[in-house]
Amino acid sequence: MAVQGALREWVRSHTLGVAVAITAIGYALVLNAFEGIVPLFPSIGESTVRLLSSVIVVINAATLTALLSGVYYIRQRGIDRHRVAMVTAVALELGFLVLYLWKVGGGGELYIQASGLFRLAYLLVLAIHLVCSALSVPLVIYAVLLGLTRSPAELEQTAHARVGRIAVAVWSVSLALGIVTSAMLRIAGSELETVGAIVLV
Ligand code: HEM
Repeated sequence: MAVQGALREWVRSHTLGVAVAITAIGYALVLNAFEGIVPLFPSIGESTVRLLSSVIVVINAATLTALLSGVYYIRQRGIDRHRVAMVTAVALELGFLVLYLWKVGGGGELYIQASGLFRLAYLLVLAIHLVCSALSVPLVIYAVLLGLTRSPAELEQTAHARVGRIAVAVWSVSLALGIVTSAMLRIAGSELETVGAIVLV
């Protein structure tokens, strides 16, 4: 308990630095999975990659639901419910990250088998999804660290609500477009590129 209290105090006085450090670790893990530098996960075959892709879509949909519920609750001034919904969204996202890293690092990435306008539309949606995903990480981590280390009264004196609003906007777009890209892959068909052979977009 004393250790937990000391950790909370430390994170409280170094919130921005901790958010930056966690973000850097997250980016490094994703880069490592794509480049296959340090193999962190056991190898998987194509059917498992496809299964993980389906599970990831379900997690993304659940995360989006938790996130939007969190926004609804804080608008009703339901701080405890807001906290539970947002912590649930972040926990689901951690689950997503583990499965995503395993899928990419242990198997590979699925590439769309389409040409013309459909392919162009897919690449555009994918690009926006990737940019929003990358941008959402530091914003969400900073908002949640502020939320977990301060009382509601103290939070009002911080950038939590402002950063939180941007985080919700960027993260929602990222999650929704992740679901759209997955649906487009299913419609057009996809091919697996194994680790090491992956070229982004
Ligand atoms: C994890 C624990 C969290 C707690 C205890 C918490 C608590 C709070 C509190 C007390 C407020 C009102 C602050 C004020 O009026 O200035 C607030 C606002 C807000 N929070 Fe959180 N929050 C948490 C996590 C998050 C996360 C992770 C996000 C974003 C992903 C977020 C997004 C927001 C937004 C958008 C608002 C402003 C709502 C509005 O007025 O439009 N919160 N939060």
